[in-house]
Amino acid sequence: MRFWFILGTVENFWVLVFFTQIITHAQDSKQPNIIFILADDLGWNDVGFHGSNEIPTPNIDALAYSGVILNNYYVNSLCSPSRSALMTGKYSIHTGMQHLVLLPAEPRGLNLSEKLLPQYLKELGYVNHMVGKWHLGYWKKEYTPMYRGFDSHLGYYNWGHHYYSHTLNPSPSWGYDMRRNMSVAFDLHGQYSTTVFTDESVKIIKNHNISQPLFLYLAHAAVHAATAYDSLPAPDDVVASFANLTDDHWDNYRRQKFAAMLTLLDDSVGEVMQALADRKMLENSIIIFSTDNGGAAEGYDISEASNWPLKGAKNSLWEGGVRGAAAVWSPLIKEKSRVSHQMMHITDWLPTLLDAAGGNSSQLSEIDGISMWDTLTNNVDSNRSEILLNIDQTTGEAGLRIGDYKIITGRSNDISWDGWFGPTGRNVSGYNLSVIENSLAYQALDSVKLAVDLDEIDAIRENATISCGDFDQGSCLPEDVCLYNISNDPCEYVNLAKVFPNTVTAMLVTLGEYNDTSLPPQNIGDDPSADPRLHQHVWSIWGDNETISELLEVIP
Ligand SMILES: *[C@@H]1O[C@H](CO)[C@@H](O)[C@H](O)[C@H]1NC(C)=O
Ligand SMILES: *[C@@H]1O[C@H](CO)[C@@H](O)[C@H](O)[C@H]1NC(C)=O
Ligand SMILES: *[C@@H]1O[C@H](CO)[C@@H](O)[C@H](O)[C@H]1NC(C)=O
Ligand SMILES: *[C@@H]1O[C@H](CO)[C@@H](O)[C@H](O)[C@H]1NC(C)=O
Ligand SMILES: *[C@@H]1O[C@H](CO)[C@@H](O)[C@H](O)[C@H]1NC(C)=O
Ligand SMILES: *[C@@H]1O[C@H](CO)[C@@H](O)[C@H](O)[C@H]1NC(C)=O
Ligand SMILES: *[C@@H]1O[C@H](CO)[C@@H](O)[C@H](O)[C@H]1NC(C)=O
Ligand SMILES: *[C@@H]1O[C@H](CO)[C@@H](O)[C@H](O)[C@H]1NC(C)=O
Ligand SMILES: *[C@@H]1O[C@H](CO)[C@@H](O)[C@H](O)[C@H]1NC(C)=O
Ligand SMILES: *[C@@H]1O[C@H](CO)[C@@H](O)[C@H](O)[C@H]1NC(C)=O
Repeated sequence: MRFWFILGTVENFWVLVFFTQIITHAQDSKQPNIIFILADDLGWNDVGFHGSNEIPTPNIDALAYSGVILNNYYVNSLCSPSRSALMTGKYSIHTGMQHLVLLPAEPRGLNLSEKLLPQYLKELGYVNHMVGKWHLGYWKKEYTPMYRGFDSHLGYYNWGHHYYSHTLNPSPSWGYDMRRNMSVAFDLHGQYSTTVFTDESVKIIKNHNISQPLFLYLAHAAVHAATAYDSLPAPDDVVASFANLTDDHWDNYRRQKFAAMLTLLDDSVGEVMQALADRKMLENSIIIFSTDNGGAAEGYDISEASNWPLKGAKNSLWEGGVRGAAAVWSPLIKEKSRVSHQMMHITDWLPTLLDAAGGNSSQLSEIDGISMWDTLTNNVDSNRSEILLNIDQTTGEAGLRIGDYKIITGRSNDISWDGWFGPTGRNVSGYNLSVIENSLAYQALDSVKLAVDLDEIDAIRENATISCGDFDQGSCLPEDVCLYNISNDPCEYVNLAKVFPNTVTAMLVTLGEYNDTSLPPQNIGDDPSADPRLHQHVWSIWGDNETISELLEVIP
């Protein structure tokens, strides 16, 4: 209406008609809100729905049991590779992100030639908000979320930060890393990251104008380790409530702190779902919960996640590094409360969500992701039978899954995570369904009659729990190419390479074909001019002089 009074000419009449059409289209459409909650370094066995009783995750579990548990779902083994795959729908070998992660002082980022998920969604009429960790580059402002499809960003650019001080990395010097849009958010110093991100997400949902669909990308810091002097920061009272966790741990106190961090992450899921219910947006939403990679187990990063009974940890191509804990919920899913064994990869979210949003994923060329929308909503067979787990030309490590089989090769670099790490979470007393029933997430789902039937939970949980029978560690020397039947042997006990040499040969050929399409790893190492001492002790955008002067303006 306002346009009508301000603008009066004939040309502007057409502008008005155009705007009206966009608005009408948006109001008429039933495009779902998309809430993508990405946990950081969360292990397979850290969620209750995979069978551990140790740390209650009632909100995440309520979401999972009411939706679809993705039990054959793969991610990359590290942050930047996984996040680049999520944002582009491409394997990390196709973006040059396959080796390690972006270092704080590295002058690079996810190639600006890539079109990202929020940019596609924007074309479909979405409002895009990002909260939390980016880790896809920030040396120039063009690489940051606000320039890559997000309308707002409250969060940080690097691999992690201390949850209260928001500083990271003493090398070459300590720097602050927390932003509101492009400004450094100094005022958030001292406030716990998970709480900050939860409050911001709830605020976004409260203020959202429902005439447009919402994409909220909530990429938590939790449960990634923080700093060497305080690796797992969490509120003391919550830590104290886990004082009874003294079983079977690498370090009891650290596991208690980990439990507290995870509890706040779980609470966050509940609060976000409650906010969606309060705004009556839940009935038209897709909520995804996923880890970015396997858990940092038994002292990795001075943390203590659990991937048990899967082998390995974060930064390995064993199942514990790449098989991700994840679930998706939406009223659009017709067969809910089930465990999906359909193969899925993190690159699949981009085409899947575009199809859900009213786009057409078959028009995307040059992506590796395959739309799972039909598979998820109608429980029909997945079109995916092959997953490239990674090829890292710098270390030589590579892995590939085809059907039941998986090969892993070139592992000679680091074998310290070639084992099975607890805690099992099976010794702790029972799983309390009334805790799930009382969770905010369950209550929110129940308010729209879309919560799981509590009587079904035990059966679903049993189906989602992997058990591997008697421990039987087959030999897989670092220099070997090893082959596993993952359907039969998800714990990677028995190396079948000598039994099925032709399968090994055929899979190596396929791996070589992928390798031929790979970009070289783009790692370039540190740029001394990123040193926070040169930028008011902030991990600043340092490739644009312009942005540095903006930064100086906001120093309090
Ligand atoms: C980025 O993508 C462009 C276009 O595909 C390509 O020419 C360029 O080499 C890429 N840069 C890097 C660093 O990969
Ligand atoms: C961030 O940007 C959005 C617009 O894109 C704006 O609505 C919001 O107020 C900004 N936040 C801050 C703290 O400036
Ligand atoms: C929501 O957006 C529509 C279309 O732009 C507008 O007409 C309406 O006033 C907005 N509602 C609120 C509460 O801002
Ligand atoms: C916990 O359970 C596992 C197997 O379920 C067992 O091997 C381990 O000894 C138990 N730990 C303790 C401390 O009871
Ligand atoms: C999606 O795009 C493909 C390829 O352009 C086309 O054949 C198909 O009809 C489209 N599907 C829909 C539902 O528009
Ligand atoms: C699998 O791919 C075929 C061919 O592109 C398509 O017709 C079919 O709908 C897809 N199935 C699913 C479940 O997406
Ligand atoms: C289960 O949790 C409820 C609170 O939700 C508590 O009252 C009850 O005592 C618990 N039951 C057991 C067996 O721990
Ligand atoms: C558990 O798995 C079995 C075998 O695949 C299946 O028949 C059953 O329906 C599943 N139950 C649930 C609750 O998913
Ligand atoms: C893998 O193991 C399962 C269960 O034993 C079996 O049914 C399947 O045929 C095996 N797959 C292959 C390719 O041998
Ligand atoms: C990939 O190609 C590089 C360079 O051509 C080669 O050194 C490496 O062995 C190949 N890796 C695999 C897994 O094929």
